[in-house]
Amino acid sequence: MDKEQRIRQAIEAIKDPDLDQTLSELNAVHEVKVADDKVEIFLRLIQPLHFVAQTIDEQIKQAVQEIVPGAEVISYVREVEAPRPSKVPVLPDVRNLVAIASGKGGVGKSTVAANIAVTLAQSGARVGLLDADIHGPSAPVLFGLQGEQMPARKLEDGRILGYPLEKYGVKIASMGFVMARDQAAILRGPLQAGYFTTLVEQIEWGELDYLIFDLPPGTGDIQLTLTQRVPLTGAAIVTTPQDISLADVRRGIAMFRKVNVDILGVIENMSFYICPNCGHRDEIFQHGGGKRIAKEQNVPFLGQLPLNSAICSASDQGVPVVLNADIPSVREAFVDVTRRLAQEVRRVNARRLHQPPVEISL
Ligand SMILES: Nc1ncnc2c1ncn2[C@@H]1O[C@H](COP(=O)(O)OP(=O)(O)O)[C@@H](O)[C@H]1O
Ligand SMILES: [Mg+2]
Repeated sequence: MDKEQRIRQAIEAIKDPDLDQTLSELNAVHEVKVADDKVEIFLRLIQPLHFVAQTIDEQIKQAVQEIVPGAEVISYVREVEAPRPSKVPVLPDVRNLVAIASGKGGVGKSTVAANIAVTLAQSGARVGLLDADIHGPSAPVLFGLQGEQMPARKLEDGRILGYPLEKYGVKIASMGFVMARDQAAILRGPLQAGYFTTLVEQIEWGELDYLIFDLPPGTGDIQLTLTQRVPLTGAAIVTTPQDISLADVRRGIAMFRKVNVDILGVIENMSFYICPNCGHRDEIFQHGGGKRIAKEQNVPFLGQLPLNSAICSASDQGVPVVLNADIPSVREAFVDVTRRLAQEVRRVNARRLHQPPVEISL
């Protein structure tokens, strides 16, 4: 076997860290070029790659250098774009549309959505956050953007296009940037859905790797409008660990299943408390409810986030807690959950390569 064949064989045996399949099984090795001490590898991998690109690159370098010691190894990756989950033609420049949902309010959904968005942006992804909670928009506070308005432009045909604000690397749109606070509460069902459509279709997001939807709690009108009007890559459900929240999780999962939206997984927030003085870990509520419900519903468990007063005060200060380097354990918990979420997005996309998109009639 010549050098090139040996290199190809070694690389094809590497496993994609998210998909649990080898690069050979994924048909990912497009070309191997060997010239003296320089080896170039051309790959085709399912997007998005932000959390795994480096791991794959390191494994390739190691594999090649075992065969050609000291070689300069360069890998080029072309991202394979997954087909859209449905033929709904909105937001064509957004690759992954991820809903963060919860059965009921107050479980930390907005906090989790904001920190996931910032973490994805820090990994190098192009990220947008759509705060779709009309009753209580929280992005303006979470990102310290109270009182700001979205710039807008009127087109010749009379339509108005809005531009998201940008902070900490995340593009943000919120009803809170469009209307006064006391107007929010008076919106009613069909009107809400109309506002929501406005937020989705009349905002210039540009090209994004992820658009995170912070949904209002529950399984009402807005949630249904979203699932019908937007080709969601999938939805993640946030819950607290108590049994009493779990019935709401079941309802949320059932709603998304009914409209054929993939469940990316369950995130358990306010899971445990680590005493800042003695380091003792206390399961304030019942332990492990999120994991149990994920197992019961046969969906992935994306991880646990601690109850920590810094999360609360970070929100009040308008700086998402993942940007606070003083509490690495909290940051790491968010990074782990975000990484798992991104992994599930890749898995859903990989599966979709072999599934035709669903027809949805509006
Ligand atoms: N892990 C956590 N630890 C401490 N406080 C939290 C945590 N998650 C959320 N909070 C706080 O709980 C409150 C509700 O969170 P929020 O994200 O607004 O919930 P939701 O969007 O589900 O209604 C906020 O004051 C927030 O700062
Ligand atoms: Mg909220």
